[in-house]
Amino acid sequence: MADTVTAPAVRAAKGTRKLTMITAYDAPTAAIADRSGVDMILVGDSLANVVLGHPTTLSVTVDDMVHHTAAVTRSAGRAFVIADMPWLSYHVSVEETVRNAGRLVREAGAGAVKLEGGRKRLPMIEAVLNAEIPVMGHLGLTPQSVHAMGGYTVQGREVAAARDLLQDAKALDAAGIFALVLEGVPDVLARLVTERVTVPTIGIGAGGDCDGQVLVFHDALGLHDGHYPKFVRRYAGLFDDAVAALTAYCEDVRSGDFPGPDETYSMPEETARALLEEPPFGA
Ligand code: KIV
Repeated sequence: MADTVTAPAVRAAKGTRKLTMITAYDAPTAAIADRSGVDMILVGDSLANVVLGHPTTLSVTVDDMVHHTAAVTRSAGRAFVIADMPWLSYHVSVEETVRNAGRLVREAGAGAVKLEGGRKRLPMIEAVLNAEIPVMGHLGLTPQSVHAMGGYTVQGREVAAARDLLQDAKALDAAGIFALVLEGVPDVLARLVTERVTVPTIGIGAGGDCDGQVLVFHDALGLHDGHYPKFVRRYAGLFDDAVAALTAYCEDVRSGDFPGPDETYSMPEETARALLEEPPFGA
């Protein structure tokens, strides 16, 4: 498990073991993720919601992603770092797409990029792959399509929509992506896609039959007091723990208990006496 994870290694892992991915957005969250032994760190555009306080992911820019991805790659070690391409960074033209993906690799150190969408995005995905940048696909509930979807709703629940998603997955697979995120789809559809594509599927709200799973860091660790989707399992309650810790800090400062002798610098008694007995400077 000590070898650095790469895109080909992720691809080759299909059918051999379950893959793990978690989001991270800065040096400390990346260090925690990496230390846990996770295979992949995704610098998700969920940055918008969980770190920058925006209501949707649509506000995040390429500059934001470069800034945060660079902090993650400075701190990650073994885990493979993938950066999300934000909304409108791969919709305008193939040239702009490649330039933006290149920034995430050259300026921020990402090993791959993730793009939302299926056959509609194939020319952009193929161009990024031709620039030798590994691509992770993302189908199902794609948050950048929030307005087109009419909200954050489970996708692929009707036969036609499910078949459409399967065709998208096969097209991305044939184009040469190294892994595919499936978000917010019924488990039967996720299983079908997983069986029909050659690359690992990484599920989030897509049931237990995907080749791997991904969660948002702040959801998995209970690091916010907002809404937790049904598919999240909380492995810690860090928001509550942090509030309790800082409440105790405030009480200790107000009562005079903090700082105590162990948290205070001293000087030799003689020096202190001399200092206190001398007239103050300038007197
Ligand atoms: O931005 C993100 O965090 C994501 C994951 C939810 C897959 O795309």
